[in-house]
Amino acid sequence: MTGGREIKAKGMNVKKFIEEKAAEIQAAVGKGVAINALSGGVDSSVVTMLGHRALGERLKTYFIDNGLMRKDEPQRIQAIFKSLGVTIEIVDARAKFFKALKGLTDPEEKREAITQTFYKDVFGKLVTKSRAKYLLQGTILTDIDETVAGIKRQHNVFEQLGIDPKKAFGYHILEPLVQLRKDGVRKVGSALGLPASMYKRIPFPGPALAARVVGEVTPEKVEIVRLATVVVEEELAKVKAFQYLAILHEDRMTGMRDGRRDFGRQIEVRCWDSLDARKATPTNLPFSKLTRIASRICKEVPGVVSVTYNIATKPPSTIEAI
Ligand code: XMP
Repeated sequence: MTGGREIKAKGMNVKKFIEEKAAEIQAAVGKGVAINALSGGVDSSVVTMLGHRALGERLKTYFIDNGLMRKDEPQRIQAIFKSLGVTIEIVDARAKFFKALKGLTDPEEKREAITQTFYKDVFGKLVTKSRAKYLLQGTILTDIDETVAGIKRQHNVFEQLGIDPKKAFGYHILEPLVQLRKDGVRKVGSALGLPASMYKRIPFPGPALAARVVGEVTPEKVEIVRLATVVVEEELAKVKAFQYLAILHEDRMTGMRDGRRDFGRQIEVRCWDSLDARKATPTNLPFSKLTRIASRICKEVPGVVSVTYNIATKPPSTIEAI
């Protein structure tokens, strides 16, 4: 299921795709059980719906709370899926992830720590408990391109790196969306009955807010970027853009607050126009929108004295910071 040629969103037969992938999942899993992790992003939400279509109760879905998610995400996503008839169990693994990230500053080491904690420690244990031999995962073609090109270690790409998940972690990984790019995944999500607020959602990376913290990832720094993300997502919700986000920089800047010197934090706002994340350009946002975002972030996020807007393109930038 992991290979195959690209299926372009334009002209795609969505109904046939869903039937074929559901049949492939059923054939692979047989009478056994499978598990998957839902992050609330478009890809994992679509895989969750597809997997439940194929396996019903034999697919056990977990939401791993890694402490790196957006504000109130675990409970919000659980409630949305409950309304769709899908039960999600939340697993509190916050302490494990922060322990694994402690002291790490290198982007690839941070990604690797999240991968290992997720698959070996947290998920490995859930797999053993559930006796599942199969893990359903929302890897898409763009994740693979970038990993193969050596740009970023996408946390859900193994086969392409020559890692056998069965040997490394003890289970098989099924990746039914691996021939699609984001636009195709959205079409499948719509056809599977996901609300538009879910399948049209802006992409969110596997390493979550850790991909947006430059330097060491601590609970305090994640909270800063989480609060800045609330402002950016609220303010840009109606903007037609591919993705928008907030990044916390390591640099501190002299600022002033209440008439006193404040050696504060710096947030970078990014808003991207893109079709499929391979190339991206900054969205031409009205200046009044940018200043409103800056003013809200400085007011609502403790310690922030500087807000910048990214105007570089991808490449050479990437969408996330790490
Ligand atoms: P970059 O930062 O590489 O991001 O330009 C391209 C797109 O992929 C998302 N992204 C990820 N998605 N696992 C994912 O599932 C990851 O490790 C990961 N890293 C980046 C990013 O949000 C953007 O949409």
